[in-house]
Amino acid sequence: MRFGRQMLDHWWLDRDATYLNHGTVGVTPRRVLDAQQAMREQIERHPARFLLRELMSLAPQAPAEPTRVRAAASRVAAFVGAAGDDLVFVDNASAGVNSVLRSLRLQAGDEIVLFDHAYGAVSRTAAFVAREHGARVVTLTLPFPLADASLPQRLLEPVLNARTRLVILDHVTSETALVLPLAQLAALCRAHGVPVLADGAHAPGAIPLDIPSLGVDWYVANMHKWAFAPRGCGLLWAAPGRRDGLHPPVISWGLDVGWHQEFDWTGTRDPTPFLCAPDGIDFITGFLGESTMHDYKHALARRAAQRLASLWGQPWETPDAMTGCMVTLPLPARLAHGDAAAAVRLKDWLLDERRIEVPVISRGDRLFVRVSAQVYNDDDDIERLAQAIDDAR
Ligand SMILES: Cc1ncc(COP(=O)(O)O)c(C=O)c1O
Repeated sequence: MRFGRQMLDHWWLDRDATYLNHGTVGVTPRRVLDAQQAMREQIERHPARFLLRELMSLAPQAPAEPTRVRAAASRVAAFVGAAGDDLVFVDNASAGVNSVLRSLRLQAGDEIVLFDHAYGAVSRTAAFVAREHGARVVTLTLPFPLADASLPQRLLEPVLNARTRLVILDHVTSETALVLPLAQLAALCRAHGVPVLADGAHAPGAIPLDIPSLGVDWYVANMHKWAFAPRGCGLLWAAPGRRDGLHPPVISWGLDVGWHQEFDWTGTRDPTPFLCAPDGIDFITGFLGESTMHDYKHALARRAAQRLASLWGQPWETPDAMTGCMVTLPLPARLAHGDAAAAVRLKDWLLDERRIEVPVISRGDRLFVRVSAQVYNDDDDIERLAQAIDDAR
């Protein structure tokens, strides 16, 4: 299998563009969209039967034959090392995070701990839940760029205390694209008796994943980013003992019946993103080759980091174990400083003038770019970005 530009045949992406932002909202392969369309046609032949009889069951006991949503959950679970019964679908990672945070029974003075690399929508949800209960969010500052893999652990340990009700940990941070040592951090939290919500929005399909081995209490992820599901497919995995009192963001007919019943039906909606998640998995395992795909993306991301860092006069010191298939780099000195508006201006210029889609991020007063490496990208894309940054004023 030859990866790189010729792989674009498998996507609808604009061929004139350089798309270095797979991570943001995913890009669905054509064959998955075809499967989704076929599934929609199947639904429309008899929507009531499909949605109300075949899709899910609200009965307290599981039916003899797994429902369609449970069958899809089993396929997705196997892909992330889990059992189907331990996983439910949610529309996206935001919905999964909202489920867990809004199900917490917090009291005044309780603390939720997270790093300042947490996704903005997640930290806002934590802030919302905390303020409803008189609790507070403790935000730990993790320097970036980060060369020391043990620093997250050293920062986290001193703040864990009897008031800590939850630690929220990214598996892969969004803006800074760091693969955090989640299992070690979760072990530390466990040793202090503090539950962990892991945000793996960028993990399935981006890095090899075995959720139960991580030792977290809840794991939220997106299948629509790197695992090629149609957009609108998230998952929520919960450890045994962490499902009681866990509710979806939308309460519906399954309330108090069981956690599958509560999450498998949250009102009438399009179930095809969940049901076609296995088609995205098949694209990886049956067509691209799972380990070949991981190796290509990881190597391209690392080459991109080394090449751009050396061009831009910076060392690339992020440990390899903390690098997945995205890398975030400080811009060269000439463009290094700016606020959020400057980041938007440069991002727009890259898109409007050079047809390059890549996020430009402002953290503090520093500007960074985050490069996604997907199988349809290659070194030429990185050179086009390097040239464009060279030309940007
Ligand atoms: C780390 C992280 N968490 C959560 C989300 C939210 O994902 P979604 O918009 O699919 O809910 C994102 C989205 O990029 C993310 O990067």
